[in-house]
Amino acid sequence: MASLGHSVCCADVDAKKVERLRAGVIPIVEEGLERLVAEGLSSGRLTFVLGAENAVRSAEFVFLCVPTPEGADGQADLSFVETAAQQIRELLPRNSIVVNKSTVPVGSTRVVERVLRRPDVSVVSNPEFLREGTAVHDFLHPDRVVVGADNLEAAERVGRLYEALGAPILVTDAASAETIKYAANAFLATKISFVNAIAAICEGVGADVRDVMRGIGYDRRIGNEFLRPGPGWGGSCFPKDTLALLKIAERANYRFDLLQGVVDVNLQQFDRMASRISAAAGKGGTVAIWGLTFKALTDDLRDSPALEIIDRLLSMGHKIRAFDPTVRSGLESYPSVQICSSEVEACEGADVLAVLTEWENFRWVDPTDIVGLITSGHVVDTRNLLDRSAWLTAGFTYQGVGR
Ligand code: UGA
Repeated sequence: MASLGHSVCCADVDAKKVERLRAGVIPIVEEGLERLVAEGLSSGRLTFVLGAENAVRSAEFVFLCVPTPEGADGQADLSFVETAAQQIRELLPRNSIVVNKSTVPVGSTRVVERVLRRPDVSVVSNPEFLREGTAVHDFLHPDRVVVGADNLEAAERVGRLYEALGAPILVTDAASAETIKYAANAFLATKISFVNAIAAICEGVGADVRDVMRGIGYDRRIGNEFLRPGPGWGGSCFPKDTLALLKIAERANYRFDLLQGVVDVNLQQFDRMASRISAAAGKGGTVAIWGLTFKALTDDLRDSPALEIIDRLLSMGHKIRAFDPTVRSGLESYPSVQICSSEVEACEGADVLAVLTEWENFRWVDPTDIVGLITSGHVVDTRNLLDRSAWLTAGFTYQGVGR
């Protein structure tokens, strides 16, 4: 927003985070963000403060960007949104606009309105579609901007904030904007579960899922993105948002069997990949794992498919040695997982190698440096990342997904 020329003040409850951001230190791995923040700080258009109340007093627009974690019963937990709204309620300037960026259940715009009790302040829904790892690029080159409000004029004012991006701006009512966010994530998750299901069939009939996806992706009605098979989808969004949409459907009296199937296929994929790795490792065998984050280009481990698979392998009695370029110290919830400092070190004394995240570096490891280290000589590549023929030539047995 600051890079578009707006004056932006960001508030957080974490004093340490605020301090570091003021110094231009970015607490997450996110390509291009450090440069953007440095530019914002030096232009004076970007500031960081502690506490929501210190950011809103002269704001025209107030974006709520707080987490909405999965609550006890699968519904999104709105408590952070409500607390933030309460904190700013009395401080908002007259006729300002509160914009909900957090992923919230349909109807939450009204929840915020009720907490604010400020008839002069409009509440607008403006869902985000950024992917971790490419968030800066996605923000600057959006496919669309969605703004939803029951007050059309407020929605249009928010839309104008993004005008410089030249993207289509879709103005809807609040409930539709909130639904778009869940529908988009559920549809993307559906695509991946579909691909993973076709991959399982490909394995049974001797087809190559990569060619099959290329073949269907040329059809513009299908599109060629988001068709990569893998260990199953994860991250901080898809798992919680699919469950939240199932809850929303339940409350709307609709049995969303299709989406339940998408979630079930994903769990099946974790199981399938874990069994494949376990079989290759042998009873109680040690598994070398390359990649722990939920995808490449991020240091985010939340709901990572790699951890899902590790959970299963540990309960099957395997030992784990893992390497990930962004994970340097042991994982608190997985004290038995040995974190190694290189790809080669992870393989030392292991019975099988499993690739779980698509980090580009893994592609460039020379298989001849690894071949003597893995006792079974077997590699399970759940991302179809490695050069199969190079690994076969080096003497490995190679198993990808759907080929
Ligand atoms: C996702 C959406 O893609 C964003 O549009 C959305 O804004 C975001 O959630 C959110 O709700 O905040 P993100 O979770 O960062 O973004 O990651 P994705 O790139 O969507 O990947 C999600 C999972 O699907 C990862 O585990 C990834 O490895 C997997 N995936 C993705 C595949 O297995 N195959 C694919 O072809 C694509």
